[in-house]
Amino acid sequence: MTNQDDFISTVSHELRTPLTSIRGFAQTMLSSWDKLDDESKKKFLMIIEQQSNRLINLVENILSVTKLPKETLILKSIDINIAILPVIQIVQQQYKTHKIVRDFDSANPVVSLDLEKFQQIMINLVENAAKYSDEGSTIKIITSHNDKYVLIKVQDEGIGINEEFAEKIFEKFSRIDNPLTRKIQGSGLGLYITKTLVEKMHGDISFKNLSKGTEFQVKFPVYNIEEHVKCSVTQ
Ligand SMILES: Nc1ncnc2c1ncn2[C@@H]1O[C@H](COP(=O)(O)OP(=O)(O)OP(=O)(O)O)[C@@H](O)[C@H]1O
Ligand SMILES: [Mg+2]
Repeated sequence: MTNQDDFISTVSHELRTPLTSIRGFAQTMLSSWDKLDDESKKKFLMIIEQQSNRLINLVENILSVTKLPKETLILKSIDINIAILPVIQIVQQQYKTHKIVRDFDSANPVVSLDLEKFQQIMINLVENAAKYSDEGSTIKIITSHNDKYVLIKVQDEGIGINEEFAEKIFEKFSRIDNPLTRKIQGSGLGLYITKTLVEKMHGDISFKNLSKGTEFQVKFPVYNIEEHVKCSVTQ
C-alpha cells in the first residue's frame, strides 16, 4: 500500500464512523417517530448535530492536510503578542468557562511569519489545551525571547500526555486512546498540521508534562534583515 492508499483508507474509515451514526439515528427517528417521546427525539437530533460537527471538522482538517505540501507562505513581520489576541477570543467563545491568561514579554522582537498559519498553529494548541482539561481550569499562554528565538508556551491543567506517546501525537490521525480521550472528539490531525506549519516557518515544537497538565512549546527564529530577505525569497 502506498502512503496515498493508506491515507485514503484511513480517511474513509474516519468519515464512515460519524456518517453511520447520523444515518442510524435519522433512520430510527423516521421509522419510530410516533413511538419516540420528545426527549428522545431531542437527544437523537443532538447526536446528529454533534456528529455533523465532527464531520465538518474532519473534512476541514483533511483539506488542510492535502493542501500542506503546496502551501505557499506569505511572510510578514509579525508581533506575536498581537497575533495571539484573536486566537484567545476564538477559543474562549467555544470554551466559555476556561480561564485563558496571558503572560507576554512586551519586548518580543517582530518575527517573520505567515500570520494566518501562525494563528492556525496557536488555535490548534490552545484548543487542545481547553479540550483536554476540565471546565473552569486555567490555560496560560506565555511569550518570551532571547537573541535567537521567540518562544511561546501553552500550559494547561489537563489530563497530560503519557510519555510513551510522545513521538506519536504529531503523526497523522494519532489520538491517544484512553477512557478520557475517548469521550472527546477529534480527528487526530491538529498536531500533524501544526508541526508541519511550524517547521515550514523554520520553527520547532515540543511538549512536556507539568505536575498537572501539559506544556506545548513553539519557537521561531528571529532573523536579522539580510536573513529575512533570503528566507522570503526561498519560500
Ligand atoms: N494539551 C493536551 N493535553 C492532553 N492530551 C493532548 C493535548 N494535546 C493533544 N493531546 C493528545 O494528542 C492527540 C493528538 O492531538 P491532535 O490535536 O493532533 O488531534 P485531536 O485533538 O484528537 O483532533 P483534531 O484534529 O480535531 O485537533 C489528541 O487526541 C490527544 O490525545
Ligand atoms: Mg486537536
